[in-house]
Amino acid sequence: MSQGPMEKKNFLCVGLICVDIMNHVEKFPTEDSDNRASDQYWQRGGNASNNCTVLSLLGENVSIFGTIANSNELGFLQDDFKKYNISFNNCPIKENVTCPLSIAIVNKQNGSRTIIHHNRNLPELTSDEFSKLDLKNFDWIHFEGRPSVDEISGMLQIIDTFNEKYDKKIRTSVELEKKRETLKLLADRADVIFVSKGHASMLGYNKKEDALLHYLKKCRPKATVIVPWAEEGAVGQVQGQDQMFHSPCFSPDKVIDTLGAGDTFVASCIQALSRDLPLAHALKIACKVAGFKCGIKGYDGIS
Ligand code: ADP
Ligand code: FRU
Repeated sequence: MSQGPMEKKNFLCVGLICVDIMNHVEKFPTEDSDNRASDQYWQRGGNASNNCTVLSLLGENVSIFGTIANSNELGFLQDDFKKYNISFNNCPIKENVTCPLSIAIVNKQNGSRTIIHHNRNLPELTSDEFSKLDLKNFDWIHFEGRPSVDEISGMLQIIDTFNEKYDKKIRTSVELEKKRETLKLLADRADVIFVSKGHASMLGYNKKEDALLHYLKKCRPKATVIVPWAEEGAVGQVQGQDQMFHSPCFSPDKVIDTLGAGDTFVASCIQALSRDLPLAHALKIACKVAGFKCGIKGYDGIS
């Protein structure tokens, strides 16, 4: 049965779940100074976890798949997944490990976010754990590029095998976000590849178009490569086609909080692509939703 435009799609996002300790400050602190935050709170974080929040706010059926530490933060994370209607039932709970934490400083003057992250010992997901999922439940599976590229590659292989066997085809995407050289090994493993400005600059690219052309040579035939680039908006192109599409950035009246702008962009872009909207349209929607997010604290209000 074909899905009508209003029917919810089933998304699975695979990657990190952590706690972000958010600190909003009047101005960015100087070294070795004693400061007061104008606001401070815990927020569920991690790219895949943030992708889930946004997809759920946008009205989709959403599941997260990532390891979670059985530590003091577990209750907070589970309550928050429930609050956003995100299914976390499949997540392996790991004993005797620490929950990854980020200290985020959000500068009130320009909304910039400075993150100090630490992941002491939470094990990454394995493709063995992934193989236990019932993939028939999902229309689209998105992967955050984690350090465990071999495991992620194995998970994408499981989806390829599923797609060969069944009529139902699961679409896939991967985000190459962090400044890790090994992430490029995932470039030919999915239908849609997101390349962040940070990752591209680590590879020596200072123009989004150059990063796009680089990854178009590395991706699968007919895959889509998308490069969001902060205030410059985003570009995207389908491998094998000539046209490069651009979207400008959509600035809010005041930039309040840019933490998770990239995660919001990815989530709204995959939602649009899952509904077969043209790439140019998907880029524009994603820049609009990400721009809106930059004008609010957190994610509530995205719709
Ligand atoms: P990340 O959060 O991964 O660093 P980017 O900074 O590249 O991601 O931002 C992703 C998208 O969010 C951009 O393509 C843009 O559409 C939007 N965005 C980022 N910063 C701003 C901003 N200051 N104002 C409006 N939109 C923004
Ligand atoms: C935002 C984010 C935060 C997390 C950090 C990890 O993109 O996922 O929620 O603390 O990045 O690097």
